[in-house]
This record gives sequence, structure tokens and C-alpha cells, in this order.
Amino acid sequence: MNILRRLEEQASAAICNTLGVTDAYADVRPTSDERFGDYQINGVLPLARQRRENPRGMAQLVAGKLELSDMCEPPEVAGPGFINLRLRNQWLEKRLGEDAVDQRAGVEPAQVAERVVVDYSSPNVAKAMHVGHLRSTIIGNALCRILRFLGHHVIGDNHLGDWGTQFGLLIVGYRRFADERSLALRPLEELERIYQQVVALADKDPSVAEEARGELRKLQAGDRENRGLWEKFVRITLEENEKIYRRLGVEFDEVLGESAYNERLPGVVEKLLRKGVARESQGAVCVFFDDDPELSEYPFIIQKSDGAFLYSTTDIATLEFRSEHFQPHRVLYVVDSRQSLHFRQFFEVARRMGYDMRLEHIGFGTILGPDGRPIRTREGRAVYLEDLLDEAERRAGEIIRDREDELGGETRRVASGVGIGAVIYADLSQNRLSDYRFDWDKMVSFDGNTGPYLQYALVRTRSLFRKLGVENWQPAGTPLQLEHASELALARDLARFSESFHRAGETFFPHLICDSLYRIARRFSQFWHDCPVLTAAGPLRESRLSLCRLTGAALAVGLQSLGIDTLERM
Ligand code: ARG
Repeated sequence: MNILRRLEEQASAAICNTLGVTDAYADVRPTSDERFGDYQINGVLPLARQRRENPRGMAQLVAGKLELSDMCEPPEVAGPGFINLRLRNQWLEKRLGEDAVDQRAGVEPAQVAERVVVDYSSPNVAKAMHVGHLRSTIIGNALCRILRFLGHHVIGDNHLGDWGTQFGLLIVGYRRFADERSLALRPLEELERIYQQVVALADKDPSVAEEARGELRKLQAGDRENRGLWEKFVRITLEENEKIYRRLGVEFDEVLGESAYNERLPGVVEKLLRKGVARESQGAVCVFFDDDPELSEYPFIIQKSDGAFLYSTTDIATLEFRSEHFQPHRVLYVVDSRQSLHFRQFFEVARRMGYDMRLEHIGFGTILGPDGRPIRTREGRAVYLEDLLDEAERRAGEIIRDREDELGGETRRVASGVGIGAVIYADLSQNRLSDYRFDWDKMVSFDGNTGPYLQYALVRTRSLFRKLGVENWQPAGTPLQLEHASELALARDLARFSESFHRAGETFFPHLICDSLYRIARRFSQFWHDCPVLTAAGPLRESRLSLCRLTGAALAVGLQSLGIDTLERM
């Protein structure tokens, strides 16, 4: 159950009731300090100020109208006019007793199910995926899973960059420089090398650039041979990327590259002109935002003066297609924050065209190396994702080496689950908008806010039931018996897992789930230390086993929603 939501509803009703208004924002938040209770209602203060009334007096009135006596201790008015709420132990005992039998760890589906398109990963053809694509892939995958778990209908779409002027060059480069052996060994890196080589050549020799333009025109006109080469480039890219997706546990519902929208582009420009959204300017077609102070200096070019279409044109055409085919309520674009100007412009154009779905740019920061600058290899090139994942597995393998006897045939699988899980978790546990420093040692450590730490906490709950020989032990669903302070602390965080999960799904910030899981895992570890489970007597033993079960369920639901492997042993 989403406790925060229930409190918000109650607090809003009490405020409305007190003031005789119909909508008020109660602004309920978890307290920053446990001594003040679990939640705090902040909304009274600004309302009282607005109405020039005494905030404390008003808070008293609101507190008197709260109908929360089943759930909370009597509310306390604090400071200049906050209302503090503390969950009642008895309520927690009953609530968690019920949650313990729930596979969903108490996370109920969202009240309204939406259709959501998630545009993510979206690398470009003929370029090996490097660390820059890691974040979009990991964050997008987590959002798809979180939203699905909440009952939304999700369409995950890999908007592959498979069209554009680079293909003329690539065709010329391929004919001149392709090395069949390298193509067979590391095909994508070879394509990338070819591309760099031909770009360098075209820079020096204008006739090469001219030749490339010719090849591009032929490709666009449907020339068989060029078309065949393009298909080969796309196929190689998809096959190579697929290996990475498989390792990361990523599956798309659609892989519709930019080329899928080609035929719509002229129509899109025409429509924008017809609707008066775009106009011609110096031979190009642009949208201007004169009345928007932030965008007025940045026209959105949708057709260049030579007739070429752009990234922007394709995004509009893609939206048109998605709107026709999926009728989404929302589209999430999981793309580097550095593209925020593009998305601001594009969303404004969509609004002017009359699209009413919610479009959101899910931006993210950069991954930094140890020197605090965007991460690079020692030789100064971008870090290939494949190498990064290999290294993660290698390091995890080293750490679990001493457990090889125990793990036996599973060692490799565990190393991969731990290593890759560590990379995923290190990324998701940060607020996605910030840059973060890539730190191998921290990431694969079994201590602290890391993937392995959480995976290990889950393994502990599972091995407990295994040791008892009661893997299928079922809690009775009756109220728990929460006695020890550590037990209560764990219970509180478990009860609040649902609201964190919902918030992550509403704000598209997966780190909120990580925070919650980490709190739960820490509390669990303290509980484990302080409260004997197996030797406890009768109902207390049942109750503690239920807590272990629920901890396991929350960790499993959380990790799976983040796209991280849950292991039986490690
Ligand atoms: N291929 C683009 C890039 O690598 C990202 C595409 C993101 N999606 C979109 N609909 N614009 O920068």
C-alpha cells in the first residue's frame, strides 16, 4: 500500500475541510529525522501565510480533522505549523502481516494504467556502443520494467540511428578500406574504423566528399547495391548490439530505426508549413519561437536549403507514427541531457501541432573517469561497452573466487550476475541528472550502496529458508509481532517500499527504488544481528520469518525492476 498517498489524501481532505476550499496541496513528506515521526504535513504553513492566519492555530484545526487514528498515533503540531505523523506499531504489524504473503511486496498497481512509449538506447549504426549508450540503455530498461510492474502498457522502442548523410561516406569507405578479417572478428569496430578513415580522407580531398554525396543520393533513390551495403551495416550493428543487450537483460518491443520514418519526412514538412507552424527562411524550413525567451534565439530547422531532412524532422515523423500506432498517453525519451535544447524545441513544435500526449525528456548526466572528466580509455578513445562488461565480470569473478567450491558450476553465472548487476546498480543508484564517477572498486564491493550488497542481502533471506528446508514456507498473513527496535525499523522501511516504488514510476527516477532497497538491506542486516530468527519461540519465530520473507520479496521486486539479476547463491 502506498502510505504516502493515503496520507496525502487524508491531509488534503482535512485542509479542505478546515478552510472550506475544494482543493489544497497537503505536501506530505517523509521526515528527515526519525525523532519527529515518520511523515510531516507541510502544506498548512504556506496556506496560513497566504490567508494571514496563525499557522500553528490552523495546524491544530487541521490535525483535529485528520481521520488517521487507525494508522497513526495522534498527530503532533510542531515548529511554526508542521504536523508530524507517526505510524502506529499495531497498524504496521497488521499491514506487514498482509504484505508478507504478497509476491509484489505490497506494491499495488498504479491507479490509472497508461500506454507509455519508452524511446531508449538508440545507438547509431556503424558505431560500436560505448559508455555513452550505457546510461540510456540501463535507465530506459529500468523505467520499462518499473512502469510495467505498476501495470502500465509499455512499448520499449530502440530508435536506432540508421539513416543520415554518414552512409554516403561509409559506402565509399567500405569499398576502399574494408578489411574482411577484421570485419569477421570485430565487425562493428571495423566499420567504425572505416568511417573514421574515410572522414579523414574526405576532409583532405573534396572529390571523396563529392563521391560520397553521389553514393548517398544513389542509396536514397533505392540503388540495389548501395541499399545492400546499408542493410549489411544495419545488420552488423544490430547483431553486435544484441550481444550487449542480452548481457544486460534488455529486450525491446520495437526496433524502429530512423529509416522507418523516411517516407513521412516530406509530408511532415508540408504539414508544418500548411499549419503555419514552420516557415521558410533563407531557403530552409524552420520553426521559430519568437515569444519564448528561452528559445527565441534557437530556430528549429526541419529542412535544410539543399532539401535535406534532419534529426528534428525524423523526431516529428516518429511522433506522428507513434501517435497513430500506439496512441500513447506518454512518450519518454531517455537521452543524454546534452540534447535538452533539441527536446525543448521538439516538444514545443509537437504542442503547436496539436499533439496532447505528455512528452518527457528523461535526461541524464555523463559518466566520468577517475580524473573527473568524461571516461576514456588510456589511449584516449571512448570505452566500448563490451570491454566494460567483460571487465565487470572479470572483477566479480575474482571476488567470488574463494567461493568456487560452494558455487560449483554456477560460478560463471554468478560472476556475470554480480559484475553486470554492479555496473547497472552503480548507474541507477545515482540521481540520473548528475554526472557520476565510474569507480570499479566501489562498484563491485559487497559493502555500501552497491549492487552486490543488495544481491547478497537477498541471497541471505533465501538461504535462510533453504537451510530450514522450508523454501516454500508460507506466512499466515496474520499480524506480525514487532518487539525489538531493529525489527520495527526494518518494518517501517518495508512498509514504505511501495511509496518509493510508485514515486520512482511517477517521476522516472529509478534511484528512489535504490535508496529504498539500500535502507531495507541495511535494516535487515541490523535485524539479523539483533534478533534471533530460528531460535525464537512460536509466534515470534513466525513473525520474524515473515519479515525475512517480505525483505526478500522487496529486494527481488526491486532488483528485477532495475534490471539486475537476482541470485540464489553467491
Ligand atoms: N541516436 C541518437 C544519438 O545517439 C539518439 C536518439 C534518441 N531518440 C530520439 N528520438 N531522438 O544521439
